[in-house]
Amino acid sequence: MSSSTTITTIDLKGALPKVASGKVRDLYTIDESTLLFVASDRISAYDVIMDNGIPGKGALLTAMSKYWFQYLSSQIPGLQTHFIASGLPPTLETQLGPDVAAPLRIRSMQVRRLQVYPIESIVRGYITGSGWAEYKKSQTVNGIPLPAGLIEGQKLATPLWTPSTKAELGDKDENISPAAAAKIVGQDVADEIERQSLQIYSAAAKRAEEVGIVLADTKFEFGLDKETGKVVLIDEVLTPDSSRFWPKETWEENLGRAQPSFDKQFLRDWLTENKLKGKEGVVVPEDVVKRTAEKYQEAYEKITGQKW
Ligand SMILES: Nc1ncnc2c1ncn2[C@@H]1O[C@H](COP(=O)(O)OP(=O)(O)O)[C@@H](O)[C@H]1O
Ligand SMILES: [Mg+2]
Repeated sequence: MSSSTTITTIDLKGALPKVASGKVRDLYTIDESTLLFVASDRISAYDVIMDNGIPGKGALLTAMSKYWFQYLSSQIPGLQTHFIASGLPPTLETQLGPDVAAPLRIRSMQVRRLQVYPIESIVRGYITGSGWAEYKKSQTVNGIPLPAGLIEGQKLATPLWTPSTKAELGDKDENISPAAAAKIVGQDVADEIERQSLQIYSAAAKRAEEVGIVLADTKFEFGLDKETGKVVLIDEVLTPDSSRFWPKETWEENLGRAQPSFDKQFLRDWLTENKLKGKEGVVVPEDVVKRTAEKYQEAYEKITGQKW
């Protein structure tokens, strides 16, 4: 099965010009208005890409984003997303041939090429991670004052829009106040991104809750459609790479400490234990790879209701 092989380097044999390469994805030009968005099996933690990947991860993230694009479009009237189709364009299929195309097809989607807004749009429904760290220091999250006495992992009275900068490759994103985000993209665009993000978060959190998952927080990206002036949801959506998913069953008993989660937790713990946090050139051992793959699969199956 192509989804059980591990592909850390995407090779289109020069068939399409490459636009960019992120930590996980490579983007190619299909035509003036369309990109090929290919998710590799690369995994990053603490902003560093590991030397080996997680088998099938790119295919799983692609399928999960596709699920959410379709689900959200069915739930939110007027929502615009960059998703056009999954898989490769037919001409590229022919050009590459079935053997080369097969592992790429399942990791690819065709998307609208848009002008990416240079902020990350994070929504937090629960207080954890960098939000919790800031709260402990100043009783604020992204400069937003919160009531005293919150505990780690607690549900917030209402979900918060907590944007961050979108750093260049290799740099770290920084949490910023909504006012600082408005300085970057303009007040109207910031308001629109906030509105859509909160709306998407609540639709997704509701769906996740139905299948026993707490959507603690998540990161969206948006782009501008220059022709229509519309703010469009782009990138991957609501995957374990971009979100914290917690099992609902054990949420309450774990209040006040770190929650188990459906993501890179095994990898992060292993890196920390072995003092490899932030180091380059790390090869992840087989058992950590396996357990990480299992967690991603579990999240996929719960959320989509489909077997992986
Ligand atoms: N529709 C789009 N048009 C142009 N760029 C996009 C679009 N959707 C996502 N992107 C960009 O593609 C990149 C995705 O690759 P990824 O490996 O996830 O990057 P990162 O390391 O920044 O997380 C991101 O930089 C994102 O902003
Ligand atoms: Mg990304």
